[in-house]
Amino acid sequence: MPGKLTRLQWMLVLVGVLGTASALAKDPVVPSDELVFCTVCHGVQLMGNPIIRAPRLSGLSSWYVEKQLHAFQDGWRGVHEADLVGMEMQPMAAALTDEQIKLAAQFVAATDSPMPERTLAGDPSAGQALYATCSACHGNQAQGNEALGSPALAGLNDWYLREQLEKFMSGARGSHPADTTGQQMRAAMQVLGDETAIDDVVAYIATLGH
Ligand code: HEC
Ligand code: HEC
Repeated sequence: MPGKLTRLQWMLVLVGVLGTASALAKDPVVPSDELVFCTVCHGVQLMGNPIIRAPRLSGLSSWYVEKQLHAFQDGWRGVHEADLVGMEMQPMAAALTDEQIKLAAQFVAATDSPMPERTLAGDPSAGQALYATCSACHGNQAQGNEALGSPALAGLNDWYLREQLEKFMSGARGSHPADTTGQQMRAAMQVLGDETAIDDVVAYIATLGH
């Protein structure tokens, strides 16, 4: 796939620019050769790269990562016609074997990087009130709840959180019949009436986990 190679090459240049040594965690985790390409988009120690909308993944729970990689692979995520950013990730997951998915999930969970900086406006105190319903599934510190299939939200980039909430709202994520957890999340979106509510709740989540 020559088109893809060219794309990966320019991304490598970006990673070189962004992945400064000072941003490294104390004990960087070295990915295996077959997974080093994840850092091309997600950055050194999977610290995230806003330019290509690839979120910080550092420390995400392995159960959630494994599930999402299968979701991309099986076509529940990253295939909706309005989800152009998800379509960047979908073919990356599609190429992995089950064994590589397990290894990738372990790699993600083992990484660490500085918490992301706030990039969006939004009122955290208004967001705190809105977050009361979210905490039933995602936990009061946005630490996640495996039994409910609800991921940690603390530590994700604010721009990524906003994009996902917009996708759940429009149905670009969570409307596939096989995506039962995504459907639950879409239903939970009803408490967030508009863009301002989304920005506020994201601003509050960005204060958690520090
Ligand atoms: C071509 C760039 C690219 C590469 C390479 C890439 N990703 Fe991604 N990844 C993305 C983008 C962009 C998103 C955001 C998708 C969205 O907005 O739904 C993403 C999303 C994800 C998510 C979802 C995170 C969440 O919180 O739900 C996981 C997990 C993930 N990537 C893991 C990986 C792993 C593991 C690898 C290597 C096997 C990898 N990615 C390689 C671009 C990439
Ligand atoms: C009924 C339980 C439930 C409630 C309430 C809930 N969520 Fe979720 N949420 C989920 C589940 C389950 C997922 C995982 C969906 C999947 O598997 O793709 C999720 C996923 C998400 C994601 C995507 C995370 C990622 O890494 O891509 C965000 C962002 C999110 N929720 C934010 C919120 C916010 C904000 C609220 C409150 C307005 C909320 N959730 C309320 C269950 C819930």
